[in-house]
Amino acid sequence: MIQKEVLEEKMADYRQAGAAPQSEPERQYYFMARAKELVADMEEKLGRKPTCCVVTFGCQMNARDSEKLLGILTEVGFADNGEDEKSDFVIFNTCTVRDNADQRVYGRLGILNGYKKKNPAMKIGLCGCMMQEQGVVEKLQKSYRFVNLIFGTHNIFKFAELLVTMLESDDMIIDIWKDTNEIVEDLPIVRKYKFKSGTNIMFGCNNFCSYCIVPYVRGRERSREPKDIIREIEMLVKDGVIEIMLLGQNVNSYGKNLEHPVSFAQLLTEVEKIKGLERIRFMTSHPKDLSDELIEVMKHSKKICRHLHLPLQSGSTRILKAMNRHYTKEQYVDLALKIRREIPDIAITTDIIVGFPGETKEDVEETIDVIKKVQFENAFTFIYSKRTGTPAAAMENQVPEAEVKENFNKVLKTVQETARSRVGNLLGQTVTVLVEEKNEQDDSLVTGRMSNNTIVHFPGGEDLIGTLVNVHLDECHGFYYTGKIQ
Ligand code: 5AD
Ligand code: SF4
Repeated sequence: MIQKEVLEEKMADYRQAGAAPQSEPERQYYFMARAKELVADMEEKLGRKPTCCVVTFGCQMNARDSEKLLGILTEVGFADNGEDEKSDFVIFNTCTVRDNADQRVYGRLGILNGYKKKNPAMKIGLCGCMMQEQGVVEKLQKSYRFVNLIFGTHNIFKFAELLVTMLESDDMIIDIWKDTNEIVEDLPIVRKYKFKSGTNIMFGCNNFCSYCIVPYVRGRERSREPKDIIREIEMLVKDGVIEIMLLGQNVNSYGKNLEHPVSFAQLLTEVEKIKGLERIRFMTSHPKDLSDELIEVMKHSKKICRHLHLPLQSGSTRILKAMNRHYTKEQYVDLALKIRREIPDIAITTDIIVGFPGETKEDVEETIDVIKKVQFENAFTFIYSKRTGTPAAAMENQVPEAEVKENFNKVLKTVQETARSRVGNLLGQTVTVLVEEKNEQDDSLVTGRMSNNTIVHFPGGEDLIGTLVNVHLDECHGFYYTGKIQ
């Protein structure tokens, strides 16, 4: 992240100097300046500012990446209009964690092609995890010729340069890297929310859970330097942010590969010291790496939110082994209960996969048993999706669809029942809530989030957005509450 004035000065300097510098991020400042000239030409021809739209699929990492794309697009002169139908440049930032994510992108691309037929000058870009998946680029080259730009997860920092190439060419521009060690700092970002922000603390994943495509599309684990993270959060706080979400595929292994190793708990201790920052969240924790040091830091922290997302995936030790998760059912339950004991007001949420190859009714019963023992406040339950190239995809004992559906419904029902009683525990209490937005359905209400991540709807005006208020919890509706400001 970089301040706007500093960026503009640097852009002008590098452009004036002539040839593109080799070092980053200077090279991108040069290309931003060039893109700015090209976009200004477009503006003159159109008689209005060219418009853009970044559509995000998938997780918080992608949402953060989209903010980086939008940061560059608005810096070079595009107006963000948020509507793909009417934009001059549309980017889909894709996800590929499950097959239905891919199908959604292909579906939306078909619709976009219809818009492009009406507006042939429209440019279409694709990036994100799906572009790194085997066979996808070939399919796009063959059947989706109307796409103008394709790039992946490792070279997103090069977006300004790719944008210039695209604007100067009529060919389909494709740039996919297999991997990278590079972490480029100080590029512009446009944030969706003024008062809260995500920040990447690490990229990639080394765990190779046998069902998961992420290590193949996001590459090996790389941590950012603590000083860069702290500097970014300090700038965000100066800019109005009071809640930060530290992002990584497995934050508990943060810092292990740095030149001077730092633990995640140590990083949190440093982030806690930032004045003006009120709340700290993080995502995601792998149970195998969750340390006592982290529990200790969370327990004594005034800023770390009372929420832990701790993916279970399966409650069966046999399946966990086949998933390459490196913990048993008992170890998971012991860990979750230890956390509940040490930090009684914490909410624990999880991810569960149903239908992993070889999963029997007994295995599903083990998962249900863990849900009952841990009493998750919420659980995201997924049907196993076969991802080409992962070890699980080659396993022979895939479970028939009808059986998976039946097991899935059973797991979902248990989650709903336990969550309802667990979330309801706070009924009648007054809690601090960060007001995030106007309620989508009812204009007289606003929606906020408690420290433990539970949503509360209550009467209030837009002026409250971005502030912390005390709310009395009147009624629990399963996963959320309604209440009144105190
Ligand atoms: N099928 C179904 N769910 C998956 N996840 C990851 N890979 C798969 C897959 N192949 C789920 C895991 C992970 C979450 C982000 O997505 O539960 O925690
Ligand atoms: Fe995928 Fe496992 Fe890495 Fe999470 S920890 S991204 S599930 S491989």
